[in-house]
Amino acid sequence: MSKRGICDKVAVIGMGCTRFAEHWDKSLDDLLVDAAYEAFADAGIEPQDIQAAWFGTLISGYSGTTLSGALKTQYIPITRVENLCASGSEAFRNACYAVAAGVYDIVLAIGGEKLKDSGFSGLVRPNPASDGTAPNITAPAAFSFLAPAYFSKYGLDKEKGKEVLTRIAWKNHRNGSLNPKAQFRSEVSLEEIARSPIVASPFGVMDCSGVADGAAAAIIVRAEDAHKYRKDPMYVKALSIAAGPGDGKLRQDFDFTSIKENIVAAEAAYKEAGITNPRTDIHLAEVHDCFTATELVIYEDLGFSERGEGWKDVLDGAFDLEGRLPVNPDGGLKSFGHPIGASGLRMLYEMYLQFQGKAGKRQLDNPKIGLTHNLGGHPTQCVSFVSIVGKELS
Ligand code: COA
Repeated sequence: MSKRGICDKVAVIGMGCTRFAEHWDKSLDDLLVDAAYEAFADAGIEPQDIQAAWFGTLISGYSGTTLSGALKTQYIPITRVENLCASGSEAFRNACYAVAAGVYDIVLAIGGEKLKDSGFSGLVRPNPASDGTAPNITAPAAFSFLAPAYFSKYGLDKEKGKEVLTRIAWKNHRNGSLNPKAQFRSEVSLEEIARSPIVASPFGVMDCSGVADGAAAAIIVRAEDAHKYRKDPMYVKALSIAAGPGDGKLRQDFDFTSIKENIVAAEAAYKEAGITNPRTDIHLAEVHDCFTATELVIYEDLGFSERGEGWKDVLDGAFDLEGRLPVNPDGGLKSFGHPIGASGLRMLYEMYLQFQGKAGKRQLDNPKIGLTHNLGGHPTQCVSFVSIVGKELS
């Protein structure tokens, strides 16, 4: 990272997000139009004001023409980006850098995915052709290794471990019940979560993020221009992404209680944003809770909890809406669902609403610094993205 970095160089002046759901009656084009036009209206701009766009999707379209065709943009540069489940964050990162470089004044970052009628599920996934030696494993199975590894390292028996995972899902469903844009909007009892059918032991259905359709969008300008558009923009303090060497499956010392890509991405972001103590400097976080045990490991990788102590913090309610560091106040992947290319921008949307005091029943008390974390891949082979955003210039 150069000494200059991205801190306070760019700002978000408009955002839009569809409800994440089974949108049987909407195409990807419809979802992209809904998210983008909500963002244009929010920023008080016209679609033709956009000078360039970055579009994140994993499997729902190819090239910039997926977006230009939907929005009927007129020959502006549009880049489709893909970085697994971090594709939406990657669209945002590239858009911010282009504005910070001074190449464009106002750009669109957007992510979208149409999964529900595509046959996609965590249990059925096409893998690229290989020589046959690459192990084939589903996402729930790949992440399920985190749970017994964590339980055994920190002395939790299976029942206690399941109680901790259940508490994480319960929190995220509870938060999602307060969010009109979440896929699952009911509270789910601890008992119902704990006895949901096993998908990849110890994960039951209720330990898994949902599969959904959706889109989310952000309009980005230079920080010094932001007040021409609105009085309450959101400032970007740090953007970082770490792609690991993917050798976890081959290493005898890979113990599945931590994901190094998370640690490296967080350290870089904290340095760029000047965060010295994430436990107190960060007021809310949206993290990649693709499965409950992922969220548990993330608490420790990002420094929200001491190593081996995250499970106690969960049971103490530290990450609840009323806790010391609310995590996934919007409901997270767990209750929002995970239309892959949209999720990173959906996390930023919650930051934006919270800073502006527009988060409704889940509004926190004047948060000023937030973190989003978006993971693409499996624990042994992944990319990890961390952003820090703020309500004010430093
Ligand atoms: N959480 C809560 N409820 C869920 C759910 C989830 N993850 N997944 C499905 N449901 C609910 C549905 O709303 C539906 O409820 P209804 O009967 O009241 O309408 C019911 O369970 C059955 O839904 P269905 O779509 O048939 O479920 P499924 O068995 O096909 O899918 C999973 C369940 C766990 C396989 C699916 O949610 C999944 O694959 N999740 C993981 C996605 C993933 O791996 N993403 C990548 C992460 S890196």
